[in-house]
Amino acid sequence: MNEGQINPAQRVIHIRSEQAPTETQKENMNDDAMHFNESDAPELQKIRQVVQEAIILAGSATAVLLQVAEPGVAKGVDRHSNFAHRPLNRLRTSVTYIYCMTFGTPEEKKSIIELVHRAHATVKGRSYSADDPKLQLWVAATLYAVSIELYQQVFGFMDDMTAETTYKEYWILAESLRVPLGMCPLIITDHARSVAQDLLYNTKAPLQIRVVLPLVRLATVQMLPARIREAYGLKSNKLRRGAYRVIVVLTKFIYPYLPETMRTYPMRYYLGEMRQRLQKEV
Ligand code: HEM
Repeated sequence: MNEGQINPAQRVIHIRSEQAPTETQKENMNDDAMHFNESDAPELQKIRQVVQEAIILAGSATAVLLQVAEPGVAKGVDRHSNFAHRPLNRLRTSVTYIYCMTFGTPEEKKSIIELVHRAHATVKGRSYSADDPKLQLWVAATLYAVSIELYQQVFGFMDDMTAETTYKEYWILAESLRVPLGMCPLIITDHARSVAQDLLYNTKAPLQIRVVLPLVRLATVQMLPARIREAYGLKSNKLRRGAYRVIVVLTKFIYPYLPETMRTYPMRYYLGEMRQRLQKEV
């Protein structure tokens, strides 16, 4: 992966708002009214470029395995689907949904959304429901992550702007069902921001830590995905991005040539310390 490249898994950490779904949103999820409104959806361009490629179907089995790694999805699929006996049919319905939501007319979209809602209506048990926005979010995230990974492997990495737009457009797959607009799986709370403050702007740390803190801050802020960085209230700008790139390039050239004893020093130091502690306990 190129320097500065955000991997699909990182991008799946979706921060569009800091709010959990409101009560009204929750109610809307439960009634059968479609909360998806065509006019709220982003104009689709980049997602079409990805989903039209047959090669991404090669990731179908991977996506299913990732989906059922979520216990609720696993229960739903295992108990209510016999797709193992008709994998081609399952593939057909799933990809038709994706193609329809990205290339279909508004009427076609409406019909397929209703079809999926009907198929999902009976997929529920004590601890799971195919209508659960959290589970749907997970399923949509796997669709995004697997296809984007395959696409980039074949066509090369997208630049950051294209990747960001593709990511945003992919949310149509989740938001068209029960996932409320703006739902975010991760919430940066005031507690999280307070930890960030203590970590990156620590005024009580020993001098040797405080001296390197600006460097740690610079690198950490650049390494975070943009959405998370913003949610923490951390700032990036051209100058900082440039400085970080210089550091990365220098590190690439210098670090591999440092003596191994230097590169492995922390590992040996902490392991040694741990072993000493264990010996004292014996
Ligand atoms: C964004 C999320 C999801 C999408 C896009 C999606 C899409 C679909 C589609 C297109 C169908 C086929 C409808 C038909 O033509 O009959 C379907 C059926 C089904 N879905 Fe989902 N689904 C999602 C989430 C979930 C979740 C979270 C579960 C389980 C907890 C689930 C379980 C099922 C089951 C059991 C069926 C019937 C399967 C079968 O006929 O083999 N789905 N879904």
